[in-house]
Amino acid sequence: MITDRLDICYARDKKNYRALATGLRELDARLLDGEETLVLDAKTLEFGDGFAVETNAGILGCLSAPAGAGRFLELIQGASEMVVGSGPITVAALEDVIRLKRASGRPSDLVELEILAALREEIEYARRPSIGGRLLGRQLSTFSSDERGKGSAPTTRLGEHEVKFDKVGEWSELKIKIVAEYAQPFSTILKAQKGFTRVYIDAFSGPGRHISKKSGEFVPGSPLAVLAVSPPFDEYHFIDLDQGKLDELRRLVGPRSDVKLYQGDCNDVLLSEVFPTIRYEDYRRGLCLLDPYGLNLKWEVMQSAGRSQTIDMILNFPVADMNRNALWRDPTKVSADAKKRMTAFWGDDSWSRVAYTTKRGLFEEFPEKEDNETIARAFRKRLKEVAGFAFVSQPLPMRNSKGATVYYLFGASQKEVGVKIIDSVFKKHAQGRKAR
Ligand SMILES: C[S@@+](CC[C@H](N)C(=O)[O-])C[C@H]1O[C@@H](n2cnc3c(N)ncnc32)[C@H](O)[C@@H]1O
Repeated sequence: MITDRLDICYARDKKNYRALATGLRELDARLLDGEETLVLDAKTLEFGDGFAVETNAGILGCLSAPAGAGRFLELIQGASEMVVGSGPITVAALEDVIRLKRASGRPSDLVELEILAALREEIEYARRPSIGGRLLGRQLSTFSSDERGKGSAPTTRLGEHEVKFDKVGEWSELKIKIVAEYAQPFSTILKAQKGFTRVYIDAFSGPGRHISKKSGEFVPGSPLAVLAVSPPFDEYHFIDLDQGKLDELRRLVGPRSDVKLYQGDCNDVLLSEVFPTIRYEDYRRGLCLLDPYGLNLKWEVMQSAGRSQTIDMILNFPVADMNRNALWRDPTKVSADAKKRMTAFWGDDSWSRVAYTTKRGLFEEFPEKEDNETIARAFRKRLKEVAGFAFVSQPLPMRNSKGATVYYLFGASQKEVGVKIIDSVFKKHAQGRKAR
């Protein structure tokens, strides 16, 4: 479908206002409705929200928060790249365009809705594996329809590195929502206190978006979800081992000076580069998400966050990975390496006494494994008594579609209000089933 008007959604940061102002100047842009004499410079753009201009290339709509579709950071999550003219441009997902047109309510947009709905049907039809899916898939998105279902993680190439997107279950989508729902009051409360620098740290950041197992569509990862929180943090620190994922994250976020990316093992990066900058006496306060796949987080990191007195933490406590590797029914069969990794996460070997009780049989004593909740409760005690967090939430079990606990989430803070908020966010999202 070809229209005679182009709409763009722009990110709200100073660098981008300057870039947009330069582009508008080059196109000899004049406001379509409004004061002809108004100069469209970076300052003016910062105070506006949306406007339409006539340029020597046609009509251009510029919106920072298109009704019905969210802001730039929300739109970009579903967007894909297309080559138009001489270079690639990022194009909003069809679903978002439909939402936007519906919300605008302008007669011309409502007419286009019919056409867009028909286009969506065509695409859905073409995606069916037996028909045109293989032909159309890659043009529609960064991965083909075949890759959307079960199977290996879809990948896309970005510069030198390949990005492997995770396919995430509903419990991961919920986790990301929970993190954003805590980040928002955290940032609001600190902002109201004046003088504090608010720092968000995402230590196992991932690429900023994942593929939902449920819908097959892109969904925001924790970095993008927190970047969309208002009021924004003053600094964002994202760490990942995988350079391809960081390249994707940088592409999504753009060249912002308040967003710093680190490639490396977060256990080292946090202790040597990030945490030492969040000092109490400098009025800097942090919210740190520790979201490992499994036992690859070290206790020193959690302890350092607790002892800093400046960092709130949301922790993914990977109980399923612990059960798979170290907390076997028969502890004598657990490998030395798995025990070592468990000890590195737990901070010492006291986990082996927590995880088993001694039972008396007819002829001998034998160890019996404790349930997940006992292990999570013992870890909560350690976060308070050993790591030094004054307040730690109750563990929130995150369950898969079969009701089994994949991991627990903990929130920890030096402030009672912090944990009261996280407990209420947890309560709101507690999944109804009984823990297993
Ligand atoms: C569970 S995913 C994180 C998802 C992300 N928090 C979100 O919700 O969008 C774990 C990420 O940690 C990264 N990773 C694994 N080990 C790491 C380490 N030692 N240091 C930094 N990143 C690591 C992986 O590449 C992966 O992207």
